[in-house]
Amino acid sequence: MKKMTLMIIKPDSIAAGNAGNILAHLEEAGFEICAMRMLKLSGETAAGFYAEHTGKEFFAPLIEFMTSGPVIVAALKRENAVEELRRVIGATDPAEAKPGTVRDLYAENKTRNAIHASDSPESAERELNFFFSRSELILNQF
Ligand code: CMP
Repeated sequence: MKKMTLMIIKPDSIAAGNAGNILAHLEEAGFEICAMRMLKLSGETAAGFYAEHTGKEFFAPLIEFMTSGPVIVAALKRENAVEELRRVIGATDPAEAKPGTVRDLYAENKTRNAIHASDSPESAERELNFFFSRSELILNQF
């Protein structure tokens, strides 16, 4: 059964003009765009979204970066969406990302790493509901 996962095109990708290429890459990899919005995250919203990383050494730079410019949040659907999107985007550190993955192609480093994807079905549910209302998500179940 097809499920949804949450993806964020990060500020570095948008500033570099890579947003369209990344969306095309994901569609070619079999993902359907079910809901999508561009917004600029406030510090409070970014910290809430990344709450599980509070206190880690990369937390402050992560929040500073994620609030530095607009992002695109999207709900993407396909079979094994969570696992497949993690595979298609590649490792967190682009130096370790497999050739042809989104982070291999577009990321600079572990912080400016082009894209976010939910890391488990539980995270996907939380993250989809963080950005999208029930009606926006239900619209695309059919
Ligand atoms: P993302 O998939 O958005 O989830 C958490 C983010 O923290 C991660 O991508 C990176 O952008 C950022 N980050 C920065 N440094 C690290 C690190 N050492 N380990 C994990 N994530 C990091």
